[in-house]
Amino acid sequence: MRILLTGRNGQVGSALLATLSALGEVTAVDRTQLDLADPDSIRAAVRGMQPQVIVNAGAYTAVDQAEREEALAMQVNCDGPAVLAEEAERAGALLVHFSTDYVFDGEKRTPYVETDATNPLNAYGRTKLAGEQAIQASGCRHLIFRTSWVYSARGKNFALTMLRLAREGKPLRVVDDQHGAPTSNLMLAAALPGAIEQVANGAGPGGVFHMSASGHTTWYGFARAILEATGVDADLSAISSSEYRTAARRPRNSVLDNGKLARQLGLRLPSWQQGLDAVVGAGVP
Ligand SMILES: NC(=O)c1ccc[n+]([C@@H]2O[C@H](COP(=O)([O-])OP(=O)(O)OC[C@H]3O[C@@H](n4cnc5c(N)ncnc54)[C@H](OP(=O)(O)O)[C@@H]3O)[C@@H](O)[C@H]2O)c1
Repeated sequence: MRILLTGRNGQVGSALLATLSALGEVTAVDRTQLDLADPDSIRAAVRGMQPQVIVNAGAYTAVDQAEREEALAMQVNCDGPAVLAEEAERAGALLVHFSTDYVFDGEKRTPYVETDATNPLNAYGRTKLAGEQAIQASGCRHLIFRTSWVYSARGKNFALTMLRLAREGKPLRVVDDQHGAPTSNLMLAAALPGAIEQVANGAGPGGVFHMSASGHTTWYGFARAILEATGVDADLSAISSSEYRTAARRPRNSVLDNGKLARQLGLRLPSWQQGLDAVVGAGVP
């Protein structure tokens, strides 16, 4: 199986580089080789390689910055994936794409299922939803995995920010009224090959799937667990979202129901606590 992986230096892309090779020959590209904001570079890369599977781990992910750069975020998160989808359809390839819990507004009281109404609260969520819709409209074979609160031992993420601030002796005031499932890059990368193999071989259906760690917590609960797991001391306290203003609004509940993934593809990600232990065990800086 020839696989084209975009966003090779990102949290998810870098972890996928290690696991996708179990399925075949992986060509992993960064934005200098395939720029999602440049349709010509996307077409050239896909036509040059003729992949059977395209895994798009590239994205514009700066949630607050997207409020000021929605046009650029739309190019990267919607227009680029639309061209990838067009090329996948043309070549008969399977397109695997990631989306986000931030397509929802958080007003639901229970975990979100795939068919729940979307209503993004911020620019990033709007661009990711538009990307999903463009892929679905293209008619290409696709798998779209909505995931949440992604972190890893490298890159830019909440977990590493908490550790840096704690080590600098800064007090940590963390919101305790947004609920979600912290999902490690390692658990996504471990689950992907099994999902891709089934769908690429026609044994499983395509479509949109929720794929996050089992269980849920708040950002405050996650921060506390990070400090405990790493043995780092900090002055940590819980605050409400109204006490922590950010450019982008975030949903108060973005817990995803992963039942469809279990029923249709037989996959269940570990708990968010197990995910954290695995990332810490593998070594955080
Ligand atoms: N992070 C989260 O909390 C979260 C939550 C839910 C869903 N997701 C989704 O999960 C997927 C993976 O996210 P992640 O956390 O791995 O993101 P990430 O660490 O920010 O990585 C994104 C990658 O995309 C690349 N990229 C940005 N602009 C590009 C462009 N114009 N052309 C090509 N590549 C470009 C980046 O390249 P550079 O390294 O050169 O910047 C980076 O390697 C994304 O679809 C994201 O929307 C993430």
